[in-house]
Amino acid sequence: MSDDLQQRIQAAIADPKNVGELPDADAVGTVGSPDCGDMLRMWIKFKDEGGRRVIDRATFQTFGCETAIAVASVATELISGKTADEALNLSGADLSAPLGALPPMKIHCAQLVEGALRSALAPEQSAPAPAAAPNAPTLFDQLGVGSEKQVKVVLHKTPNP
Ligand code: FES
Repeated sequence: MSDDLQQRIQAAIADPKNVGELPDADAVGTVGSPDCGDMLRMWIKFKDEGGRRVIDRATFQTFGCETAIAVASVATELISGKTADEALNLSGADLSAPLGALPPMKIHCAQLVEGALRSALAPEQSAPAPAAAPNAPTLFDQLGVGSEKQVKVVLHKTPNP
């Protein structure tokens, strides 16, 4: 990875934009990467602008690498003001373009963001998502992080021989 790209990724993750749940979202998409097992969820809210329905705001949460966080951060800014069709025309490379070209081993990280966007805007064309309703729980809730749904490990004593 080039130093320039690494610096842009570090700058993006030092101050990631649009992180977190969007409670009144119109669309939610979740996707998991078959390459690395990471997950990303994206929330999208629309608004009417001059008779066009455009993306007002997009937010995300992820259990992903630094590249996925950086791409999601720039992508949520990039799609603001676009219609759903315009956003769906963007590839992973388009969504990560503000960071610069990604090396081959990081392309799937941008595709994770693209997949979540597609899952939100065109769920019928996407693989089934774990939770695609606008009131879907956060990724943290769903995986039991920070909630009462945490996995409880119970140790059983074995009798001494
Ligand atoms: Fe999993 Fe980047 S390594 S999204």
